[in-house]
Amino acid sequence: MAAFYNSLKHLHIITVALSGALFFIRGVWMLIESPRLNQRWVRVVPHVIDTVLLLSAVALTSIIQQYPFVHAWLTAKVIVLVLYIGVGMIAIRHGKRKSVKAVAWIIALLLFAYIVIVAWRHDPWPL
Ligand code: HEM
Repeated sequence: MAAFYNSLKHLHIITVALSGALFFIRGVWMLIESPRLNQRWVRVVPHVIDTVLLLSAVALTSIIQQYPFVHAWLTAKVIVLVLYIGVGMIAIRHGKRKSVKAVAWIIALLLFAYIVIVAWRHDPWPL
């Protein structure tokens, strides 16, 4: 089970890295108004990666039997994940002005960094 858990954790971390990298590059394309943002794969692949990220998260929590709304660090991850998704949507598509999108992009990157630090420390107040 330990080997399986480690493989799942690696999968989780790989999807975290891909998700973060794709969000970063999409933000850059948004800022420079690149048509690449509207490529078909750019609209599809992030959703596939984020689905695998979430599925691996659910599997990890059930193996270690630590759950959101029971263990504070996982509660923090889920709440900030929801905020990250919402602010991220404003940044990439729904913001009315470019300045709004740019600020939302920076906030979303900070939220993402917070989730990573919470994951490492298992502590919702990592600083
Ligand atoms: C954008 C969202 C997420 C990011 C950036 C993220 C990031 C990470 C990272 C970097 C690790 C590795 C920590 C380490 O090396 O010890 C990790 C592990 C883990 N994450 Fe996530 N995660 C996210 C979403 C979630 C969600 C939603 C859950 C569950 C509700 C979750 C549950 C876990 C669990 C259980 C581990 C394993 C902890 C351990 O074995 O020490 N993650 N996450």
